[in-house]
Order: sequence, then structure tokens, then C-alpha cells
Amino acid sequence: MELDFQQFIPSLPFLLQGIVVTLKIVFIAGILGFILGIILSIFKISNISVLTWIANIYTSIFRGTPLVLQLMLIYYGIPQITGYEIEPSVAAIISFALNSAAYISEIIRAGILAVDKGQKEAAMALGVPSRQAMLDLILPQALKNIFPALINEAVSLTKESAIVTVIGVTDIMRRAYIMGGEKYSYFEPLILAGLIYYVLVMILTMLAKVLEGRMRKSD
Ligand code: ARG
Repeated sequence: MELDFQQFIPSLPFLLQGIVVTLKIVFIAGILGFILGIILSIFKISNISVLTWIANIYTSIFRGTPLVLQLMLIYYGIPQITGYEIEPSVAAIISFALNSAAYISEIIRAGILAVDKGQKEAAMALGVPSRQAMLDLILPQALKNIFPALINEAVSLTKESAIVTVIGVTDIMRRAYIMGGEKYSYFEPLILAGLIYYVLVMILTMLAKVLEGRMRKSD
């Protein structure tokens, strides 16, 4: 076994630039997914059966099929039916946002429903309008359930983003693969890529701990 990390030092900047590519996809898809996820979760708890139905079907489709399939369908399939080519990174952002929205809508729905029913009943008994009860009473409590789960989702997205390499996005993963191909040795660049992902996830986790601590203090 021969391991030679030194031969990869010159291409380290190339690998590190992948962080920007990866984070850009994760960040934009995360924001879009969050917005769509909020809308879907409102549908789910709306008591309007058509909306609930739409949101549930949406979630079941996006959770029930592989993300890599959704990605390829958007990248290779959409141009076929619309006649418009689509940038790999745009296809990546769209598919990750759509996929993440399904998970996020469940996180928010579950977070809201987990708040004790008595809270809402008490607000109603006191004559607080239900909209205000939702905003001032239920949501602040729901946030404590929702927040850690959202961080989990961000961690999942960060790691899952590695599959964008299959449509040619030069993210961290693809760059490691390219480096391996150039030197005919894959072990070292893959380990380096793994380290980068690990550090990114650790940073996210630490951020979450800090913010969670603050939320607890504000109780
Ligand atoms: N590997 C799973 C899939 O292919 C993960 C889906 C993405 N997960 C997420 N939390 N957004 O379906």
C-alpha cells in the first residue's frame, strides 16, 4: 500500500474551491426548500382537505423516490419535454429544494402538532384570536422542536449534495474524483473530501448547539 498525500498538495486549492460550489447549492436549496416547506406545512394543518391532500401527495412522492432519481429527472428529463437545457447547478438546486421541502414540511407540521393541545384550548377559552394564538403562543414553542430537526435536515442536505457529482457539478465530491483520476490514486483525495464534509457538518452542529443554548436561555 502506498499513500502519498503530498502529491495532492498542489491541487488542494482546486478541492477547496468545491466548498463554495457545495455550500452555494446547499444554502440556496435550503432557503427555497424552507419556504416551500412552510407553505406545505400550512396546507397540512389547514383542515382544508384538498390542500392537505396535495401536500401529503407531494411529500409522499418526494420522500418515496430516490433523490438521485429526482435530480436526474430534472437535469436530463426537463430539457426533453420543455426543449430548454438546464444548468447542472440549477438542476441541483431545484431538485434539492423540492426534495428538502417535503422533509421540512413534515418537520414543521410535527413541531406544531407536538405543542400541547391545552395551550390552544386555553388561548381559545381566554378569547385570544386563533391567528394570534398561533403566532404568539404555539409557534414560539413549536420552534424548539423544529429547530434541531431543521439542523438535521441541513446536515443531510450537505452530505446528500455529494450526489450532484453524477450530473457533472464540480462540487467537493467531483473534484476529489477528478484529482483521483489524474493521479490514478483515489484514496487520498477521497479521504480529503471526507474530511472537508466532516468539518462542514461539525461546524453546522456547533452552530446549532450555540443557537439552541440561546433559545433555552430565553425560556
Ligand atoms: N438518500 C435519500 C434519498 O435518496 C435522502 C433524501 C434526502 N434527504 C433529505 N433529508 N432531504 O432519497
